[in-house]
Amino acid sequence: MSTSAKTFKRFTVTSALPYANGPLHLGHLAGAYIPADIYVRYLRARGRDVLFVCGTDEHGAAINIRARKDNLTPQEVVDKYYEIISAGFKGMNINFDVFSRTSKKIHHETASEFFLKFYNEGKFIEKSIEQLYDPEAQMFLADRFVTGTCPKCGHPSAYGDQCEKCGSSLSPTDLIDPKSTITGATPTLRETKHWYLPLDQYQERLEKFILEDHTYWKRNVFGQCKSWLKEGLQPRAITRDLDWGVKVPVEGAEGKVLYVWFDAPIGYISATREWAEEHNQDWKKWWQDDDTALIHFIGKDNIVFHCLIFPAILMGHGDYILPENVPANEFLNLEGEKLSTSRNWAIWAHEFIEEFPDKVDVMRYVLTANMPEQKDSDFTWKDFQGRNKDLADVLGNFIRRAGVLTHKYYEGKLPEAKLTADQEQILGEARELLGEVAQNIENFRFRDALKAAMDIATKGNKYLADSEPWQVIKTDPEAVKGIMVTCIQLAALLPFAFGPFMPETAEKISQSLGLVGGSWDTALQSSLLVSGHVIGPVGEVLFNKIEDSVIEAQVEKLKANAAGGAPEAVKVAEFKPETTFDKFQEMDLRAVTITAAEQHPNADRLLKLTVDTGRDVRTVVSGVAEFFKPADLIGKQALLLANLAPRKIRGIESQGMLLFAEDSEGKLTLVSPANPVNNGSTVA
Ligand code: MF3
Ligand code: ZN
Repeated sequence: MSTSAKTFKRFTVTSALPYANGPLHLGHLAGAYIPADIYVRYLRARGRDVLFVCGTDEHGAAINIRARKDNLTPQEVVDKYYEIISAGFKGMNINFDVFSRTSKKIHHETASEFFLKFYNEGKFIEKSIEQLYDPEAQMFLADRFVTGTCPKCGHPSAYGDQCEKCGSSLSPTDLIDPKSTITGATPTLRETKHWYLPLDQYQERLEKFILEDHTYWKRNVFGQCKSWLKEGLQPRAITRDLDWGVKVPVEGAEGKVLYVWFDAPIGYISATREWAEEHNQDWKKWWQDDDTALIHFIGKDNIVFHCLIFPAILMGHGDYILPENVPANEFLNLEGEKLSTSRNWAIWAHEFIEEFPDKVDVMRYVLTANMPEQKDSDFTWKDFQGRNKDLADVLGNFIRRAGVLTHKYYEGKLPEAKLTADQEQILGEARELLGEVAQNIENFRFRDALKAAMDIATKGNKYLADSEPWQVIKTDPEAVKGIMVTCIQLAALLPFAFGPFMPETAEKISQSLGLVGGSWDTALQSSLLVSGHVIGPVGEVLFNKIEDSVIEAQVEKLKANAAGGAPEAVKVAEFKPETTFDKFQEMDLRAVTITAAEQHPNADRLLKLTVDTGRDVRTVVSGVAEFFKPADLIGKQALLLANLAPRKIRGIESQGMLLFAEDSEGKLTLVSPANPVNNGSTVA
């Protein structure tokens, strides 16, 4: 079962607040926005009370970093991208009830109120810590402003909060050889005071909330929560030394702001308040009434914040409901490669809308059919072209032919006909498929839901082709009536089935059928149209063909853009500071053979390797699963740093480190002796 048994009076649906530091790309859309929009459109079509909330996330180091890169002020950055992002959503027909900004006054107030309530009730821990400070820039370094070597996997450019290679969450002082990304200086340690949310005190309640009460969450979400909980939650600093953000509203906190992940989710509440003020509504029922289902749509990198940290904040406050579901998606790749803003390997929503104004629904269709629901998925332009053709051949063709023939034979007026048992059966099956659309959307299975919708169209198209009314009309015109009525009644289900996914197409189909009103409940049970009903005019072709040349041009454009981003991408890493021969001699490098390799049981990015050193057999954990399948490595010779202190990585002790070469794009290659050598051979 994937939903709660409880029925709710209303739904507060949120999509992750995108950082206002760049435009929207397809990965964003497929991850957190199209699924939410589908869900909301569906709920509305079923007459449910829904508030759909979003806005831009305008704080945090991500904004500062973009400002430095583009030589703008943080305010200029967020103003610029707020406009671009809003236009992107509008163009893709993603219609929030409110699209707010965390830089608004109402948000600063709401976030400050949260902080103060916790502060006054003694629910934070106050701690002075030593933090990395850039002596040249004269500022404390937020996590993202520090890079260095990951202590867990050895990745040379991990960030202060996270290693993107092995996925470990880090704190900046864990990094080996830390460097300021602002000046390149080696940071010093300085004392500073921060407030912490004692997440450990919420551990038990969160365990009950998720592991007992929400076992029906998606597998990928539940699994991540479980492993965080298993590791044990730690207090988290919720303030930062930064000048951009929500100022910490107490004395003695000059130069400090709220940590972006403390204020941003509260942004959902601020946005609701903004909407409520504008519409003269009560905001509280959307957040504080047990009959409201709170649903967060997000990407997988946001899971911990929405499933553990924000719920802890809501629990700590006491007046709020907790999320009913958090249907997070995995990531979308592009043409087989990871989407990358810095490499400009992306399809930007605002550009797509401009170049393909009549293909917005097709893109929504493709992104749903390929949605990274359970695992990462891939967008390719070829697939886009192919699916456009499927839509044209099946859905477009069916609607057009059914309309044309009904006009031709009956001047558009639905004839009276007694349907045969076969025809009734086809309509019955089509209604069952519509039921599957509903069920699947309610369970956040959007791919399956769309497939069921498409199955209805396929069924209609096949029935029309197989029954050949254009032949039958010559011999048995009476029988044609039943055929056409079956087709039109079946077609009338399609605006319901496709409405959540492809709103413009659904509207066009409704028009060509002359369908007005009509409810899901009727559609699920009985005929939508009565005999004598006059259908609409045969409209324009629903899905125009996309030429090969158009697709090729898009692929070329992608490559050219990525190459244009190259000066940064091919940058060769700087040399490290001078070392000594003695230090080098301390490293015991050995040639070894990898004799076994398997996926690390607790981490997607890690492989567990067995190596033969000639003296012993060891286990080594490497953060390379992204680049190699276990089978690629078995039997290969490699170089091992053999005297590195053993350390446990996600539960498995790693006894040494294997060497890999890494290019400027982060791609790894195994370093091997050029010719076979005895295991245990030394390297110098
Ligand atoms: N800006 C974040 C991101 O893009 C998401 C923030 S979601 C919120 O990853 F809950 F904090 F609002
Ligand atoms: Zn790492």
